[in-house]
Amino acid sequence: MKKESKVTPWEVSGKVDYQRLIKEFGLSKIDEKLLKKIEKCTGELHFMLRRGLFFAHRDLDFALEQYEKKNLFLYTGCGPSGPIHIGHAFIWEFVRWLQEKFDLDLWFQFTDDEKFLLNKDKSYKEIQEWMYENMLDIIAIGFNPKKTHFLIDTKHAGLMYPEAIKVAKKINFSMVKSSFGFTNQTNLGMIFFTSVQAVPAFLPCVIKKKKLACLIPHAVDQDPHFRLTRDILPKLGYYKPSSIQALFLPPLTGSEGKMSSSKDMNLLMTDSPKEIERKIKKYAFSGGQKTIEEHRKKGGNPDIDVSYQYLKMFFEPDDDKLKQIYEDYKSGKITTSELKDYLIKKINAYLKKHQERRKEAKKLIDKFIFSE
Ligand code: TRP
Repeated sequence: MKKESKVTPWEVSGKVDYQRLIKEFGLSKIDEKLLKKIEKCTGELHFMLRRGLFFAHRDLDFALEQYEKKNLFLYTGCGPSGPIHIGHAFIWEFVRWLQEKFDLDLWFQFTDDEKFLLNKDKSYKEIQEWMYENMLDIIAIGFNPKKTHFLIDTKHAGLMYPEAIKVAKKINFSMVKSSFGFTNQTNLGMIFFTSVQAVPAFLPCVIKKKKLACLIPHAVDQDPHFRLTRDILPKLGYYKPSSIQALFLPPLTGSEGKMSSSKDMNLLMTDSPKEIERKIKKYAFSGGQKTIEEHRKKGGNPDIDVSYQYLKMFFEPDDDKLKQIYEDYKSGKITTSELKDYLIKKINAYLKKHQERRKEAKKLIDKFIFSE
């Protein structure tokens, strides 16, 4: 029997059917016409857009109109419960590009409350430690320190709580139960939490006393939060936030679920070159044949090969090179181990630079944390 796939902010399992998600969630597809509009604003298209990795949206047209009126800001976030992996960086590299091309303010939420409430076996202190570590990685991604504002749910509570309760008052249990998979055993904090994640979508309007529009880049599992946020915000006198939504980077072992920080099947931003090599060689699911002879004869299947997917989604921005790799792997001209070696080289070059910037990030933290 085929396992049912599940996509909520706290569980992604089974083989994700993105076309079905578009229907179920009521998302819009990013089509050629919209890509042209984006290109008009940015001057070029990021390969993640060209390749359909950011594949769906809500009211992106409206966000682009507001951008032209200089009335738009960006909002994204991080749930600090473990180390940052390349699945996170995949999204944030795109967010950085958006910030740079559009030259926009970015509000970056750290949901330490959420991750404390969610993880039975993690203490408050542990979450705070992960949050600090995560901030270093996020700064190292290269966001603009002058235009990026970290909001920490527990530290900025004085600012955020009065707004969160305005949202919470308009949501009842039956509205959140099914979209978040809540049961009678779910703790109270988790039930309240979505109203906290709604806040950065309009807090800049409160702070700047101006009705601004918001664009939220995120992985598609976060959509249930923002579906609700979109219902509530007009009732409070704000615009519905727009969103641009990404696929999941698959875990090393294959196509089900998403990369996660709680399992070993991930590639961390702090991994050494040796560690990356070991994990890819040992775990990365291969679309190649069992023996070299067979592979040369029949060729491999790049569409199910995780190393190829990582090149396509993240580490090979050059379309011509990617196409060549696709064809050569399919024809059997390059082997799985050659493909893996290429990927390992690419990832390690990326991580080398990241880790250098990460060392400098400590000095910058104060510049990023929002203060009035
Ligand atoms: N809940 C998200 C997580 O677990 C963190 C988050 C908060 C977020 N606000 C966001 C993600 C806005 C994307 C966009 O990772």
